[in-house]
Amino acid sequence: MERYLIKGLSNLQGEVTISGAKNAAVAIIPATILARGRCIIENVPNISDTAALFKILESLGASVKMLDRNTVEIDTSDIGEPVVPHDLARMLRASYYFLGALLGSCRRASVSMPGGCDFGVRPIDQHIKGFEAFGTNVSVDYGMINVSAERLTGAHIYFDVVSVGATINVMLAAVRAKGVTVLENVAKEPHIVDLANFLNSMGADVRGAGTDVIKIHGVDIMHGSTYSIIPDQIEAGTYMVAAAATGGDVLVKNVIPKHLESIIEKLERTGAEITEYDDSVRIIRKKPIEPVNIKTMPHPGFPTDMQAQMTAMLMMSTGTSIITEGVWDNRFRYVDELLRMGANIKVDGKVAVVQGVQELTAAPLKATDLRGGAAMIIAALMAKGDTQISDIYHIERGYENILEKFRGLGAQIEKISEPDPVSAQSA
Ligand code: EPZ
Repeated sequence: MERYLIKGLSNLQGEVTISGAKNAAVAIIPATILARGRCIIENVPNISDTAALFKILESLGASVKMLDRNTVEIDTSDIGEPVVPHDLARMLRASYYFLGALLGSCRRASVSMPGGCDFGVRPIDQHIKGFEAFGTNVSVDYGMINVSAERLTGAHIYFDVVSVGATINVMLAAVRAKGVTVLENVAKEPHIVDLANFLNSMGADVRGAGTDVIKIHGVDIMHGSTYSIIPDQIEAGTYMVAAAATGGDVLVKNVIPKHLESIIEKLERTGAEITEYDDSVRIIRKKPIEPVNIKTMPHPGFPTDMQAQMTAMLMMSTGTSIITEGVWDNRFRYVDELLRMGANIKVDGKVAVVQGVQELTAAPLKATDLRGGAAMIIAALMAKGDTQISDIYHIERGYENILEKFRGLGAQIEKISEPDPVSAQSA
């Protein structure tokens, strides 16, 4: 069983370069199906989520060739039966984007219920609402979501909740629907805009991405294209918080500062000094960590995917911080692990009260999900002693080269593998 072993009381120094955005890549890779041709996608993060999507594409009949570590050539000319089986789909949540892409391209699809981080109930009613508005028949049976339509007709859709997934899935179907589609109350995250730009580079006609209303003129034909994915906002935020949490001095390179505004605003309130450059940001923290209150919201609000990392840093603030989770019902599962290190955090539903403590001590931790796992690395870098983190597969789903990148900043972190106690006992 693989674990991370992390030496505490670190002080991160130096430079780190950010990879392509996971949440853009996991939408853009399925979208290549709409081209029914050859696409070259650059700046693809080399993580297990993208590897899983490549496997699904190959199972559908596409050819996938890595031209280098972060560039892939995908040819979707020969897509066969539009079915994504259980064992592949449950590897990640974004497998459900094959529903929209295959519906747009083949007018039908069957995709097994998706996997992904466990934040309690994760409904897909808004995805289904969008598909049905186009005249699609939707059924769920034997664990499969089935969609089919004689013809897809553009529609006016108002989403009841701001959903990244529903906005993306419905965009993927709408680009090949007859006529005009208007999507209201949509998500505005940077990855929505990146997907829209990619779709337009393949001949689609998507306008208004990044605003509350997206308008799509359906097209009959789309074609292959070459596209480069934006830098990862959340990966950048994770290293920025790690730098501030350890009292470091770090230059985070290959970022779009505009995407980081809400993170920068909160970090400055905690006493970090942040300098923005064209495509990089420098974070220095010398003063004690000030407490700050945070409420997570859809973009441009403070991203929920940064909530755990900020909470970890605030464990050693000089006062009390109130963290309100405004997007997910149950996104504090990682807190129980942090309490092992001597943190003082009280969780009540969607609110966590974080009372700063003088010192944290190392403890064996178990990653609960992707961002909770990243928060545990930050906590381990702050704590006294050596911390071990298990179930690191959660973390490697979404962070490219995380060991090398932290080591590049002076962290003492390594991957160790120990015999699984269960199999050791039975042996
Ligand atoms: C995306 O998840 C991201 N995942 C998540 O990041 C992120 O936390 C989330 O958006 C919010 O920003 C990917 O992009 C692959 P939603 P998604 O649909 O699309 C409710 C990470 O760490 N809702 O925007 O699943 C839902 O319950 C991951 O990288 C409905 O009620 O999130 C939630 O409360 C974790 N009905 C809210 O909307 C629906 O049909 C936002 O969910 C859909 C969603």
